[in-house]
Amino acid sequence: MASPAAPIGVFDSGLGGLTVARAIRTLLPRESIAYFGDTARLPYGTKSPATVHRFTRQCLRFLMGVRPKLLVVACNTASALALAQLRNDFEVPVIGVLEPGAVAAVEVARQAARSGGSTPGRAQRIGLIATEATIGSNAYPAAIRALDPALQVIGRACPLLVPMIEEGREESDLIVGLVLREYLQPFLEMEISALILGCTHYPIFASAVQETLGEEVTLIDSARQTALVVRDQLATMHALSQSPHDGRLTCYVTDQGQRFERLASRFLGEAVGQPVWVTPEMLETVE
Ligand code: DGL
Repeated sequence: MASPAAPIGVFDSGLGGLTVARAIRTLLPRESIAYFGDTARLPYGTKSPATVHRFTRQCLRFLMGVRPKLLVVACNTASALALAQLRNDFEVPVIGVLEPGAVAAVEVARQAARSGGSTPGRAQRIGLIATEATIGSNAYPAAIRALDPALQVIGRACPLLVPMIEEGREESDLIVGLVLREYLQPFLEMEISALILGCTHYPIFASAVQETLGEEVTLIDSARQTALVVRDQLATMHALSQSPHDGRLTCYVTDQGQRFERLASRFLGEAVGQPVWVTPEMLETVE
């Protein structure tokens, strides 16, 4: 049986998954989190499904060393390409971010339909921005159509966003504005009820995206929804932390450097201590 005192393992290819760690810490402050960012091998979004599965499995194997009660794949790319295999690879429950995001998007579209939107068809259309690999997998349209076959999902790969975010670019940067306008143009033309931020990095640019699309479009950030799934899963396992103290956050990264400290607090909304450096070579040995 899982120990309530055990940490939750959270994984992403980089720092984007800290937006999910933040939502878990807000909802479940007593839980300790071991966060792993594969910063040396990012981006995953341009890699093949086999590579994404192999890299993610290596990182999760490493996280298993802290004896987590649950693993969260806080990366849409890995969730879209490898979640089913990863669930077979590990004995603890593995939660992805894609399904929770799909559930939230369908709920928004249904609400829009009930309230009778300004433009016919708007409620039926959901936009999706994500990495090339997530778009190519078709996992989001499949998850949404499984919940409501009448909904249409229009996806757009945005490969420039992750590098700009990991580089620490601000939403106010001229280049960020230009890139976002180019990527979001199709959604302005066809009108959508919701836009899924289908990459855990994208909430960093949420205000600029909202400003470009206008208030009629609801942005879907799967972080909070994923945190709710984590809470329900832990409750089912009778493994919610009973500690009277706030949980700890320990971070592991594969690239040594100043960037983590500079950027992590932006994702997490609080100061983060020094991460532990794990070389990709060390990961190969735990395969
Ligand atoms: N944060 C990852 C995601 O949610 C993408 C970053 C990458 O391309 O590695 O898809």
